[in-house]
Amino acid sequence: MLVLGIETSCDETGIALYHTERGLLSHALYSQTEMHGEYGGVVPELASRDHIRRVLPLIRQTFGATGLDLRELNAIAYTCGPGLAGALLVGASIATALGFALKIPVLGIHHLEGHLLSPLLSTPAPVFPFVALLVSGGHTQLMEVSGLGLYKLLGETVDDAAGEAFDKTAKLLGLGYPGGPALSKFADEFLKSGQPKCFKLPRPMLHSGDLNFSFSGLKTAVLTLMNKHEITGQTRAGIALAFQEAVVDVLTEKSLAALTKTGLNQLVVAGGVGANHQLRESLCRRTEEIGAQVFFPELEFCTDNGAMIAFAGAMRLQLPATRNREPVDTFSIKARWDLEMQVVET
Ligand code: KG4
Ligand code: ZN
Repeated sequence: MLVLGIETSCDETGIALYHTERGLLSHALYSQTEMHGEYGGVVPELASRDHIRRVLPLIRQTFGATGLDLRELNAIAYTCGPGLAGALLVGASIATALGFALKIPVLGIHHLEGHLLSPLLSTPAPVFPFVALLVSGGHTQLMEVSGLGLYKLLGETVDDAAGEAFDKTAKLLGLGYPGGPALSKFADEFLKSGQPKCFKLPRPMLHSGDLNFSFSGLKTAVLTLMNKHEITGQTRAGIALAFQEAVVDVLTEKSLAALTKTGLNQLVVAGGVGANHQLRESLCRRTEEIGAQVFFPELEFCTDNGAMIAFAGAMRLQLPATRNREPVDTFSIKARWDLEMQVVET
């Protein structure tokens, strides 16, 4: 079964072709970060217009790389939500129009389900059940994943998402957009330079006794440090490292607590912040210590991409008919959509 995946929920146009027997055949991505960088953040209207410009050429490029033809498609999966409404509408309308013309099923995929399943594209892949740590620009959640579509929320952020905290703190430190990779690079350089660490920030909600997170206070703590010290390249880098360490510690310890609580021994990490080196190292070290295993998507599939959407669509299409979500026949989007509502009874 050949599935086309279309991702347009935010500032990346991602297209991919996934074959249920042959795996991922081809994928293409266009990132709008340079365009939004000028404004210091995503401008929704510009994002939608750019998706319109990119989506068809990227579909052609993806097919061109495989020698396959549109008529060989068996289904189309697109990101139905959550995300920016205008941006989602671009993917939804292209997917529905193509599905109508080709007379094939069209599936609306939850963006976070795409992220959550993305480590299954790698080898070795985790097997159900597992705990998933979803850390993106809009979400920070711990989920118990018993199977496809069987997701139980264990805990989540009560304010900013981890990626959002990275982005906002990077902005305070005068680093570029998107802030996560820039701040992380800055912190890593400080670490490599071997200079002594100069700052320590609080670990919010580390001992809250639940699996929730809070990151908005960290940017205030960063601001307080910046007001107290003379700002040089070195202090900025030291603060960036202190911020990263605080976020990484909390994400790591809460993930371990989720493994203990559920009695599971596989942790899956997904979403843009999953690309963070220090987080990867910390989770690898701590899970090994407790005899658990951690799985990450390939770096290129940590941030938004079409491969995870094509893959999630292919997995859903292989479910028994009773558990398969209804294919859509008119185009729909859900700008706000809880992943937990994806639960499908067995
Ligand atoms: O999953 P994603 O591409 O988009 C959403 O669905 O939100 O995640 C983007 C987020 C941004 O906040 C970005 O700053 C963050 O992931 N991010 C990182 C890194 N790479 C991306 N945060 C920390 N370290 C990184 N290396
Ligand atoms: Zn995402």
